[in-house]
This record gives sequence, structure tokens and C-alpha cells, in this order.
Amino acid sequence: MSTLVTNIGELSTMDPARGSEPVLRDAAVVFEGERIAWIGPAGRAPAADEAVDAGGRAMLPGWVDSHTHLVFAGDRSAEFEARMAGEPYAAGGIAVTTEATRAAGDYDLTRLLLGRQAEAAAGGTTWLETKTGYGLDVEQEARSARIASTVVDDVTFLGAHLVPAGSDPEEYTDLVCGPMLAAVRPYVQWADVFCERGAFTEDQSRRVLTACRDAGLGLRVHGNQLGPGAGVQLAVEFAAASVDHVNYLSADDVGALAGSWAGWDAAAGAGTPGTVATCLPACDLSTRQPLAPGRRLLDAGVEIALASNCNPGTSYTSSMNFCVATAVLQMGLSVPEAVRAATYGGALALRRHIGEDRDGARAVGSLAVGHRADLHLLNAPSAAHLAYRPGMPLTAAVWRAGNKEH
Ligand code: NIG
Repeated sequence: MSTLVTNIGELSTMDPARGSEPVLRDAAVVFEGERIAWIGPAGRAPAADEAVDAGGRAMLPGWVDSHTHLVFAGDRSAEFEARMAGEPYAAGGIAVTTEATRAAGDYDLTRLLLGRQAEAAAGGTTWLETKTGYGLDVEQEARSARIASTVVDDVTFLGAHLVPAGSDPEEYTDLVCGPMLAAVRPYVQWADVFCERGAFTEDQSRRVLTACRDAGLGLRVHGNQLGPGAGVQLAVEFAAASVDHVNYLSADDVGALAGSWAGWDAAAGAGTPGTVATCLPACDLSTRQPLAPGRRLLDAGVEIALASNCNPGTSYTSSMNFCVATAVLQMGLSVPEAVRAATYGGALALRRHIGEDRDGARAVGSLAVGHRADLHLLNAPSAAHLAYRPGMPLTAAVWRAGNKEH
């Protein structure tokens, strides 16, 4: 079954192979099954089994949301209200969600996760990473990982999210690196550690990253969120695919991130990718942290991603439209830079920017022949409307792997 989407007023391919012309006007896309088969001028499009008229509207790759925490139960709106009244964010709130998550049955936890995945898809997200981290014991972390693996595209082990109350930090770190890692390993592709004051120290983070790397997992780090810290430097040292939050960066941190991209040709999208700096603007607003310095990172030559960080504590939204709008309005990114960070940047952070041999998945985050047919049609003539009309319902239609999701 092939589908032709034609009369696309503005097609943002985000395909580095198109060089300085990644945006096509009056364009068309043909996809067959889950695969993009053709992209080009609408007037030259081949016939297909069915045709969709985009009515001159704009189309983008589906959002690649590379940082979420969606496996949870419970509500923390009271904590949010207290924060808005002046209380600072503290990682200890994670324990509240852990208690509610442990108490939920598999059916309810899966239902909640499916609901959140559906919300994200309705907002244009077509590739979703999510993390464990609200189980915090061997059985519960394995359960979260197993449930996540049945719903989302990439699963990250975050046993090192918080040391549970009453546990010795060193003994808990041993548990994460040993039995917990072994229990989650069948279900996860990635490992993460919350390297922050009040969470895991540099030394504990190093132990977690070493054990997870040795177990064959890709690495990511929560770093430099609540203050300056070792997260960024550790992420670069371990060649992590991303370091996320990055609110408080020294010149050395920016330099280390930029250095990690020395073997990458950004214009061609080729070479060896470095450590993506993932900016989480919805979280920054909700925690009243300074916004991550996306402009400074781009100017230094660092590839950045934008992600929602949807979670019950610091960012209870999966709206990537909102994140893109905020990045343009508040972080100094241009519209194409923000759209790229939320599509191709997310794919880079998950190493999904090219087809992967490890599980046969197609490339996501950019539109090119052979890539996955993840398409986001806007109720607008251009992507600029995402920031020009913030908060408006601009997602008109979404195809995920060629299937109409919204
Ligand atoms: O990414 N920073 C650590 N983890 C989450 C917060 C989780 C929570 O507070 O429940 C974050 O912001």
C-alpha cells in the first residue's frame, strides 16, 4: 500500500544530505508501508494507491522525544503549586512518585503509559524514549523496564535516579550496578544516571556508567541541572550519546561538548557523533531554572536536542510543539534550529539518525528515501507558526511508520 501526500506548501526535511536546502516548497512525499519511497516537487510526484491533499500546509518529520519518564502513577500537582509559591525543586519528590508507582498494578501502569504515549502521538511525536527510575528496587525497576519496552521505542535504565530513603548510597549503587542492571538488561537499550547534588555523586555516577557500558548499554547522563557539576564532563569522558538538562555550564563544559563533535561533519550529517546536549525547556520553566543555553551551545558547534522530559515532578507535558515554541521565544533559536533539534537532534541523541544494524530500525528524525515514514502535518502554512502561534492546536495529522496515528 503506497500513499502520496501532495500539495505540501513547506516541507522541512531536516535531511543533512540536502545541504543548505533542507526545506522544499510545493512538495510531495510518497511512502510505502513504513518506508519513505519518494520526495520531490509535487508536480513530478509518482502515482500511489491513495492520495492525501495537504492543502498547502507545512509538513515536518515527527518529533523525536529523546527524554521522558512516562512509567509512573500518582500526582504531584501539590508539589508543583508549592514550587510556584516559592519552594525550590528538590529531587526528593521522586520518592513520592516511587511510592505510587510501586503500589500500581501492571495493568494500571501499562494503561497510564499507553495514555501518555497516545497524548504524545497526538502532539506529533513519532519516536519516544522513556526511562525507568520510579521503581528503585530490583523487581520494580525490571517491571518498569518490561512495561516500557512493550510501548515505547527506546527504553533507558535509570535505577540511579534517587537513593531510596533508608538505603546506604554506596550499597544502593552496588545494587544498581549488579542485580538491578542484570534484571533490566533484557528490556533496555540505554542507561542513565542522575549526577547531581542530592542524587548521585561523581564517583557513584562513574561506577554506574562503567557497569552499564560494560553490559553493552548506550549511555546518557542527567547533568548540570540544579547547579554546576561533573555530569557534562563525565558524559564526554564516557562518550555518552547525550547529556541532558545542561542548565549550568562552565566554559570548560561547553568546550568539552564541542570537542566531542570534532569527528562530525554537521553539514553532511556524517562522521562520528559526539555527546548531544539535550535541552528541556518545559522542565526549566516548571522548575524555574535558567533556560539551558541552547544558543551558546549551537554557536560552539555542539549538536543539541530538544525534548519534553515529560514526568510528574518537573515537566508534566509531552508537548514538543510547546518546547519548540519556547526554544524560539526564550532560548534564542531560530525556527529551523528548534525544529531540527526536536527531530534530527533527538534522533542523534538516540543514535537513530541513520538506520541501525542493531535492531533493523530505519532512520528517524529526517525525511529522506528509505527513512521511516514519520510525518507531522501542521495546521499552518509554515513551521514558523509553531512559535508565532504558541499554544494553538497546530498538529493536523501524524503518520508513524506510515500508519495514521492522529
Ligand atoms: O529529569 N532530574 C531528574 N529526574 C527528573 C525529575 C523527576 C521527578 O522529579 O520526578 C527530571 O527532571
